[in-house]
Amino acid sequence: MAAEVDASRSPIGRMTTPEGIADPYPIFDELRSERPVCRDDVYGVWVCTRHSAVQQVLSDPTVSSRRSEAYWDPDRLPAEIRATAHAVYSALGQRMLMQDPPEHTATRKVMGAAFGKRAVALLRPRVADLVDELLAPVAAGGSIDVVADLAVPLSIRTIAEVLGVPHDDIGRIEGWAEDFATTKDVRPGEVDREAAALRGVEALLEYLGDLVGRTRAGPVRDDVLGLVVGAADAAGPHDDARLAANLAGLLVGGHDTTTGLVSTGLLSLLRFPAELAVLQHDPELVVPAIEELLRFESPAQWILRTTTREMDLEGCVIGPGQLVGLFLGAANRDPAVFAQPARLDVRRRPTQHFAFGRGRHLCVGAPLARIEAELALSALVTRYRGIEPAGTAPVWKPNFAQRGLARLEVHLVGR
Ligand code: HEM
Repeated sequence: MAAEVDASRSPIGRMTTPEGIADPYPIFDELRSERPVCRDDVYGVWVCTRHSAVQQVLSDPTVSSRRSEAYWDPDRLPAEIRATAHAVYSALGQRMLMQDPPEHTATRKVMGAAFGKRAVALLRPRVADLVDELLAPVAAGGSIDVVADLAVPLSIRTIAEVLGVPHDDIGRIEGWAEDFATTKDVRPGEVDREAAALRGVEALLEYLGDLVGRTRAGPVRDDVLGLVVGAADAAGPHDDARLAANLAGLLVGGHDTTTGLVSTGLLSLLRFPAELAVLQHDPELVVPAIEELLRFESPAQWILRTTTREMDLEGCVIGPGQLVGLFLGAANRDPAVFAQPARLDVRRRPTQHFAFGRGRHLCVGAPLARIEAELALSALVTRYRGIEPAGTAPVWKPNFAQRGLARLEVHLVGR
């Protein structure tokens, strides 16, 4: 059961209600203009909704990404789940996402090479084949759930391919990825939901640890997994827990977010049919339009940082050791930076959006996510005469942190 939301004490609590998840933008607008930096007493986080504040925090080298212990104190959980929580949260704390230099720099170098634009371009034909396979049942037109039939299998199979996960294991991986996303979205008091999710993440880490062991013992391989394991081993003694945590970070960082981009991207186009028509008329615009779709409905809604010294944010002085929440979805609709931010405009060039973060932790998987979204959306706008919303309303996932749809039924009109 979610705790009661006390709106005055918990702006984040308001965002995580079903109404807030379906449409967080009025809350963002109110906070951005009235309380651009404010404290959420329930979550223990400072809430930043203006583009300028997000920019300031992400470009300040003194701000730290370490935060797992402060945020996820496992001792608040019932005794029977505490050991699992300690193990899982300390493993997750070893992901590069939660590290500062110099540890971050070393891991980032390995992952950055494995996911560089050139390496990812080699994956393009495989992603194109996957899109073809998934759309084959509706090649002549028909109805699909864009989430279950296209976005989820495309993203999970792509990342499984990248990591060399056997096909038969994909179903399990998908369930664990969902559990992982849940750990980032538990509201205070949701102990059962958190415990179930933690057990899933524990199983995922064990699975990935085995995969690393098998990769090391097997023949040399030139896929991402082979590169990552080889480079990590070359850099120093084996640290399989850290490797498994980073692989889990890739899997989850890559899955839910890309699913969100494809599904909410299409929903945004259906809500602005004139913009969909622009892409249907000129499919070359799909590539730049993806940046606008990322700005408009950002799959990663907020990220966290910890201050290490006193900071003045929009006139609000915050002490050291404080958790600061950067609300990317709110900053991406800041009218001080984006004219008419609530209007989808596929011809806009929103180079200043924060959907992939900014600075040293800028999303390492962005080139891959862009290719997946481009190939999926291009196929939809070029292969069908029309894309129409089906009778049922889209359903949002009950996860505020990772914005995305649980269901989006559409009718594809064949040519
Ligand atoms: C639309 C899809 C995606 C979105 C919106 C997204 C968003 C983000 C954001 C906002 C960050 C910065 C987090 C922070 O600074 O705290 C990030 C980092 C990261 N992302 Fe993504 N991501 C996407 C796809 C992917 C994919 C496909 C992968 C992997 C294949 C991936 C792996 C990662 C990793 C490993 C990091 C941590 C980088 C670091 O700490 O240096 N992401 N992502």
